[in-house]
Amino acid sequence: MASSIILIAEDEFTARSALCGLLESEGYQVLTAEEGEGALRLALERRPDVMLLDVRMPRLDGLSVLKRLRDAGSDTSTVVMTAYGTSATAIEAMKAGAFDYLTKPVDADQLLRVIQRTLALRALRGQVGRLREQSHAPLVGESPSMQQVYKLIGQYALSDATVLIRGESGTGKELVVNAIHEHSARSRAPLVKINCASIPESLLESELFGHEKGAFTNALNQRIGRFEEADGGSLFLDEIGDLRPALQAKLLRALQERTIERLGSNKPIHVDIRLMAATARDLEKEVAEGRFREDLYYRLNVLAIGLPPLRERKADIPALVEHFLRRASRPLSIAPAALEVLCSYDWPGNVRELENVVERGIVLAHGGIIGVEQIQFGAAPAAGRASWVNLVPAGEKLETAVEALERAMIERALRESGGNKTKAADLLGIHRRLLYEKLRRYGFQE
Ligand SMILES: Nc1ncnc2c1ncn2[C@@H]1O[C@H](COP(=O)(O)OP(=O)(O)OP(=O)(O)O)[C@@H](O)[C@H]1O
Ligand SMILES: [Mg+2]
Repeated sequence: MASSIILIAEDEFTARSALCGLLESEGYQVLTAEEGEGALRLALERRPDVMLLDVRMPRLDGLSVLKRLRDAGSDTSTVVMTAYGTSATAIEAMKAGAFDYLTKPVDADQLLRVIQRTLALRALRGQVGRLREQSHAPLVGESPSMQQVYKLIGQYALSDATVLIRGESGTGKELVVNAIHEHSARSRAPLVKINCASIPESLLESELFGHEKGAFTNALNQRIGRFEEADGGSLFLDEIGDLRPALQAKLLRALQERTIERLGSNKPIHVDIRLMAATARDLEKEVAEGRFREDLYYRLNVLAIGLPPLRERKADIPALVEHFLRRASRPLSIAPAALEVLCSYDWPGNVRELENVVERGIVLAHGGIIGVEQIQFGAAPAAGRASWVNLVPAGEKLETAVEALERAMIERALRESGGNKTKAADLLGIHRRLLYEKLRRYGFQE
């Protein structure tokens, strides 16, 4: 958790510098604000994990910042700092949704303990949320093409044959994989997922097939691969079109023989798996141009599901928007004009982009309603081309500042591409693999 982001909102220079120095020396990424409005803006834009919030500040006092953040549905955990003897303020702060409070002058050890506890509880809450989401994330949409998808999911769940799921980025391929597994006879066994594009090439082979101790320089211990982990259940290979030729050959053999060998061993191990694979690429073209093995293509394409892009089933947009609104922590609705804007857009990033735009609307909503002004596609107007300069507080270490800039640029590229990582990497001018590495390093959700 050392790379967690902490925002310090404190108007007094000496106190702010001291806190900043202390937290940076502990390895946290620190942002600073010296008045309330700036703190609110930074908290919304950069979504820090924790905010240390002084109560008495110019322009907007701490309690108002706290209330505005809560209304915006912010996920930042706030620790309020109050002057000694103002227990009434502490109580008010807790009522307004503060996570904890500290009395000033702040004791360094106590501060670090409170921050660690806050981060630990956040991590736990995140895990619970993700588990809940995974177990029943329904597919939404009743358009004829989606009805066809549901029918195929039902049929394919009864079978044990390999399924190839096609569709542009963000169309819901992973949800389809989850649904097929959950409705299949293997639902009590694990569904193991691996993304062939996001794992560095050098690691993918041992990730898939495992290795024996000493198989290569860094193989200090024996390791079970994903194939073995999925034994009895399903294995999902995402972005299969990105698999390099040597591994394509190995995968083909594993599928034909239903056995694998760990790296550094030639003992065949039988695996009983149901394979599903997904790709946003044009596999036929990859085959025609010699980048994807034709024999593997036929092995994978036994059963196929194609997910239609969202622009071809705009009738599903209102139901999807409703669905995303219901997940918010407070009751919200959308103005008819705003919904119309959503329905007339083409959604290059498909459902994922719609989800992002609605979530942004939820944060910006006024009085429980998302209006046209709260619909923002692509880059947020608040984050203009050069505004990141203002986000880097004076006194930052170069490395921290560079990371902050990198993060901000990656976030924007993802927004502009509607979450499509291939497009985002193009926008940034870097290879997709490098983007994935950075996403992992900065703890973005993949
Ligand atoms: N029909 C749907 N109903 C509800 N949510 C959906 C639907 N389709 C997609 N989503 C949501 O959109 C996001 C993207 O979906 P998913 O990850 O399954 O897409 P994908 O096709 O695998 O994209 P990629 O190719 O980029 O990996 C997820 O958050 C998912 O929950
Ligand atoms: Mg996916």
